[in-house]
Amino acid sequence: MKISIDKNLVEFVPENADETANLEILWNTIVDCMKFNKKLVPIGEYIPQKRNLARFAIEGEPGETVISSETPASEKTAPLPKKVLIACVSRTGNTEKMAEFIAEGVRFTGAEAVVKKVSAIKSEKDVGGYGGYIFGCPTYHRDMTASMKTFLFLAEKAGLNSKPGGAFSSYTHSGEAGPMVFDTMQYAFKMDMVGLGALNLKEDIIRTGEGIRACQDYGKSVGQKLAD
Ligand SMILES: Cc1cc2nc3c(=O)[nH]c(=O)nc-3n(C[C@H](O)[C@H](O)[C@H](O)COP(=O)(O)O)c2cc1C
Repeated sequence: MKISIDKNLVEFVPENADETANLEILWNTIVDCMKFNKKLVPIGEYIPQKRNLARFAIEGEPGETVISSETPASEKTAPLPKKVLIACVSRTGNTEKMAEFIAEGVRFTGAEAVVKKVSAIKSEKDVGGYGGYIFGCPTYHRDMTASMKTFLFLAEKAGLNSKPGGAFSSYTHSGEAGPMVFDTMQYAFKMDMVGLGALNLKEDIIRTGEGIRACQDYGKSVGQKLAD
């Protein structure tokens, strides 16, 4: 392995297939450290005359993780960040209110909850880096909104496969959007969805004790998936 260091640039050039495979694992590990705000820290000392071994550990991670070159390191080593993105569309504020109550439920489990309107999410990079995802959209004209459809195409690029998820919706009479968003997350994104289906609430009950509790419980059930 050739290693060169020039000011702020460090380059590794593998010299055989094994080194290439190991460098790929190291690369994925460092990318995951950045993604999940972890530090790769040196352990002990590196004095080649004494022992020609340089060791690093991921701060805060339990030891003895086996990493094989067949599976991307991101799948084996990265714990889910205890942070949930709650992204919603809301024209008159009802679905957004649900998002706030759901966020309270997520926070009860000790996870962080970030509530955003989909209009504030500009690229798939804004979607990455969370441990769980809950998307909400009101029903208009027996459909989800065009803005939610556009957002789901963007979220598709973030690769949410097997991440915990949930969906919610406010409506008055037919309520198609919640189950539609839920289905996309479950079948197109292959996410690990809460077993309860979408949280679909008539707008009149959102701000009642019953509505608030239903939202909080839903948030808790997604937050608990991060604690598993
Ligand atoms: C033009 C219009 C169309 C609507 N279409 C439906 C519908 O097809 N089915 C339904 O259940 N609710 C429908 N609603 C009711 C909304 O889903 C409901 O008011 C919801 O709470 C709005 O959420 P928001 O405040 O987050 O925008 C419609 C409302 C309007 C104004």
